[in-house]
Amino acid sequence: MSNKSPCRVCGGTVQEFFNFGRQPLSDAFLPQDADFEQEFFFRLAVGLCADCTMVQLMEEVPRDRMFHETYPYFSSGSAFMRDHFEDLAKRLLATELTAEDPFIVELGCNDGVMLKALAESGVRHLGVEPSGSVADLAAAKGIRVRKSFFEDSTAKEILAVDGPADVIYAANTLCHIPYMESVLAGVRALLKPTGVFVFEDPYLGDIVERTSFDQIYDEHFFFFTARSVQEMAARNGLELVDVERIPVHGGEVRYTLAPASQRNPSGAVAALLAEEKENKLAEIATLHRFGENVLKIRDDLTSLLRKLRTDGKTVVGYGATAKSATVANLCGIGPDLVSFVCDTTPVKQGKLTPGTHIPVNPPSAFSDSYPDYALLFAWNHAEEIMAKEAAFRDAGGKWILYVPEVRVV
Ligand code: SAM
Ligand code: TMP
Ligand code: ZN
Repeated sequence: MSNKSPCRVCGGTVQEFFNFGRQPLSDAFLPQDADFEQEFFFRLAVGLCADCTMVQLMEEVPRDRMFHETYPYFSSGSAFMRDHFEDLAKRLLATELTAEDPFIVELGCNDGVMLKALAESGVRHLGVEPSGSVADLAAAKGIRVRKSFFEDSTAKEILAVDGPADVIYAANTLCHIPYMESVLAGVRALLKPTGVFVFEDPYLGDIVERTSFDQIYDEHFFFFTARSVQEMAARNGLELVDVERIPVHGGEVRYTLAPASQRNPSGAVAALLAEEKENKLAEIATLHRFGENVLKIRDDLTSLLRKLRTDGKTVVGYGATAKSATVANLCGIGPDLVSFVCDTTPVKQGKLTPGTHIPVNPPSAFSDSYPDYALLFAWNHAEEIMAKEAAFRDAGGKWILYVPEVRVV
């Protein structure tokens, strides 16, 4: 067990800064009668590359274990996110998809939450999505989907059939892909010289500032910054030409890459690079402090939940998110502390959460008999969920949040 590993971007040395210990696959919900002895665990630890500053996991989980026919994350489950992607589709139509017969490829199109609007507008498109559960849903919406992992070979096959792309887009997907060199070689091959590769992912700056440590789990391999993306792009014949901070999933950045020397980088790139330098974001001391903050949240949250149990209060979880696997397994939160978790995803209901085996129930189980407290695992959807569940507070219920610190509201 080493606390150093080779960087998946530059081959340099990655120095570990936090170890979450033994963790399950974040989206591997178990049937009630599962053989727990067979549950897959790995060592979840995160480190900083001393050379290119990319923050990344120390160990990689094989991709077929995570993304498959029963992958249970459905992007269209959030109304807020549906609006977010529809807005982006409209913006792309007005900006980057104005050539004659434009072509857009989306990596990780999931259930078609973004491509739906483009498909309806008649834009030539292709979603590349390895998880059958969600790819089939996208196809049923009339979206053209290729059921495979995107990598260099896939890109070349797409190029041969469809020609080059004006836009390659990926939301909450690029950070899921450790084999970055292959993906960027594919992007370079598939993109028109005038084209752009746009991707949005959780931003390390927000993760560190808000101690949103639960963004770290098996599927999230990379934690990007403008600095690390700039270097990653340059190593692969691309250039970071724009960045935009976006208020989704607890804070993300939308990065725009273009083939090298094709576009002038916007002022926003220099501004974010300067901010990161000022905040010493890519320094190991900053990341060690982040680790100390994680331990404080762990201790505060477990103390609070134990006290509530001692006081005879009822506590349920809200949102069986992938993120919650990290929190529950780091803090040892099982059904003794949180009696069930409610979630709108039908395939998660009736199952047990990975690792700590809390039952997952539909949201009706929440409103049928409100608990005293609800631990909001889906804190990134707080506004939407708290509005929808306003009656819980009216009935005297309280929400427990743990990012950026443990508090009851
Ligand atoms: N874009 C959607 C969104 O933002 O809600 C989906 C994000 S989901 C967290 C990540 C998706 O990436 C999954 O649907 C997964 O199957 C897909 N994925 C994983 N590896 C991939 C790869 N190499 N190429 C394309 N998609 C991939
Ligand atoms: P995410 O944080 O990775 O987007 O996952 C959100 C999870 O929370 C997903 O399993 C769906 C669930 N959820 C609800 O149960 N109710 C809601 O209103 C929303 C927005 C999500
Ligand atoms: Zn590196």
